[in-house]
Amino acid sequence: MKILNTFYIRTYGCQMNELDSEIISTQLEMRNLKKVSEEEEADIIILNTCSIRDLSEKKVLGKLFEYKKDKKDKIIGVCGCMAMNQKDKLLKKFPHLDFILGTNNLLDINKILDDIIQKNTQEKKIDLNYEIGIENFFAKRENKIKASISIIRGCNNFCSYCIVPQTRGREVSRDSNSIIKEASHLANQGIKEITLLGQNVNSYGLDKPNSKILFPDLLYMLDKVDGIERIRFMTSHPKDITKDLMLALRDLKKVCEFVHFPMQAGSNKILKAMRRTYTKEHYLEKINFLKSLIPNVTIGTDIIVGFPNESDEDFDETYKLFDEIKFDTAFIFAYSPRQNTLASRYDDNISNTLKQQRLQKLLKLFHKNLKTKYDKLIGTKQEVLVERLNKDKKSLKGRTRTFEKVLFAADPKLIGSLQIVDIKNFSHQTLIGELI
Ligand code: 5AD
Ligand code: SF4
Repeated sequence: MKILNTFYIRTYGCQMNELDSEIISTQLEMRNLKKVSEEEEADIIILNTCSIRDLSEKKVLGKLFEYKKDKKDKIIGVCGCMAMNQKDKLLKKFPHLDFILGTNNLLDINKILDDIIQKNTQEKKIDLNYEIGIENFFAKRENKIKASISIIRGCNNFCSYCIVPQTRGREVSRDSNSIIKEASHLANQGIKEITLLGQNVNSYGLDKPNSKILFPDLLYMLDKVDGIERIRFMTSHPKDITKDLMLALRDLKKVCEFVHFPMQAGSNKILKAMRRTYTKEHYLEKINFLKSLIPNVTIGTDIIVGFPNESDEDFDETYKLFDEIKFDTAFIFAYSPRQNTLASRYDDNISNTLKQQRLQKLLKLFHKNLKTKYDKLIGTKQEVLVERLNKDKKSLKGRTRTFEKVLFAADPKLIGSLQIVDIKNFSHQTLIGELI
């Protein structure tokens, strides 16, 4: 019988995956396994995977080929979106893979390990339905200052390019009592900032017709949790960013003035083909309304370039809208066709070279606009949640309410506290300041 002492877990992809890894790790630690930071030292290797783009999957496939050559007597497992997406195909292709565990089976990890030890067979658990009991499992967090809390799992939107509804299933909101309980539990452990997570947090509560608690209501409830100083959330779908939500953002002391507001494209033709359900005019209207209510709000976006049939004119529209809005954070991706999505039926007819050119053009614009924004922040005073010691071991790093990174010299004892910092300069994407 195998004796297991240590495990290594590697997370790919989004913050939801990071949180799922923490849930898995907590259970393995409850079984007295020790987490190690080098895979060579581990008896169990777990890859918690992402399928959002082809590149994300390729990285994991590369790792699995590597283990094929040199598995030793380790147990190797794949969790997350690739387990959901590829299912048995993965087990067949990689006979040395011991298990796959889906996004709705996080609490089954120890049962899977027991089965492998007893039977020495390939094991799988990949349910499509929301996992019972997950609401009341509070993972141990590594970060002692800030933590994510899952509030809704899955997505009902079926944007034509996106695999997430297949890998994470339909939307299921978590019970509000258990969310509040976890937030209080984290606050008692000293956590100062929480990020509410979901593929689409703004749909919170809509899947429960009898529930009167929608996303803005949840924010009002969480704002009252003692000890929590800041509340953030992601991701939002623009169609669900309602006036009530904007008012909550304006009026609640702890809810930070930053919204991830993924635009994806600025051409109505492409937005329609993406099934985003809004036009560029609606999108801009919402952004302008948000900015009129909260003048200092910062806005993040995701953009996909090179979607099928994206002409130079379509890209130009994206470029102009991107320039007009002046985003504060931007994740820009080259389109990558995903199996069984609606868009995978369209011809992927934009060359990789053109996709990369468009991506670089937007990135250049983003950095140019960012410089103008940082110039304006010089001379302002910002509230910073001090998160950690900087790599130079001399200064401290933290973030403003509006999500800008800040570096300043001060005593490490201040880690975990809110401080006011006078912004003097900036370098790359970090503001540099002095403690007041
Ligand atoms: N190709 C490229 N980018 C994608 N995204 C989602 N699916 C794809 C795809 N097939 C991007 C979207 C989404 C972010 C998480 O990933 O911009 O908002
Ligand atoms: Fe994917 Fe669209 Fe759902 Fe976001 S809203 S997870 S892009 S289907």
